[in-house]
Amino acid sequence: LTAVGFLGGTGELGMALSLQFSKTHQVYLGSRSVEKATAAINTIRQEKGPRDYLQSQLIPVDNEEAVRKSDVILITVPHESAVETVQNLAHTFRQGQIVISAVAAVTKSGEDFVADFVSGKSYVEKIREILPPAVGLAAAFQTVPANILYKEKEISADVLVAADDFSVFERAASLINDIQGLRPLYLGSLKLSGEVERLTALLLNVGKRNKLKSPTLKFPSF
Ligand SMILES: NC(=O)c1ccc[n+]([C@@H]2O[C@H](COP(=O)([O-])OP(=O)(O)OC[C@H]3O[C@@H](n4cnc5c(N)ncnc54)[C@H](OP(=O)(O)O)[C@@H]3O)[C@@H](O)[C@H]2O)c1
Repeated sequence: LTAVGFLGGTGELGMALSLQFSKTHQVYLGSRSVEKATAAINTIRQEKGPRDYLQSQLIPVDNEEAVRKSDVILITVPHESAVETVQNLAHTFRQGQIVISAVAAVTKSGEDFVADFVSGKSYVEKIREILPPAVGLAAAFQTVPANILYKEKEISADVLVAADDFSVFERAASLINDIQGLRPLYLGSLKLSGEVERLTALLLNVGKRNKLKSPTLKFPSF
């Protein structure tokens, strides 16, 4: 049982992943406000009906408490607030933890979805500069639509994972494998994380123009 915490766990992706991870792990659903975290958990419990793990393994906290209590911390806030959110908590992280950023750099430009990098760096690379070096960091989940995880049916997707350290990839991959239907794939170092942060825009454009609901990525091989 791993303690999995969320920064911005009250959003679409945070709630979907919290639901999934609470089946096999202890989840600390974080928010800027504990009241909002409690409301998000109540919504999950109402929508999913009585399940033991939703009572015992899903706990509302504020973002700081999510970092203190957890071995693995997921960042599920909008890209505009990701760096600031980590900056505010930088002193709270500790050695041995790993952070997984699900942040995608997507924004709207007219009718198009485009990647939104303020500097040349990806959001994960900016987060790397803030986090203590002893904290592991990975990028993952950028191409997985939250609603398919929340609906819990017919999940079948690959999850690209970027990490500098292969052991960080392995820890992230082990968690990803706990969600049925997801397959973790190692992309390479965080230098490549811009590629995954960009892919969300690609998926949203293709989805919109071809009326594909919740498009995701899968890599068939022959
Ligand atoms: N939705 C998807 O399908 C999906 C899929 C792949 C990747 N992603 C990525 O995952 C991240 C979360 O996506 P989402 O759709 O779940 O986002 P969201 O619902 O718009 O926001 C998630 C949470 O972030 C917190 N937040 C909002 N503004 C903030 C601010 N200024 N400072 C600190 N926290 C703030 C809020 O939590 P509190 O108010 O409770 O603090 C909010 O509930 C994004 O970076 C997105 O690109 C999303």
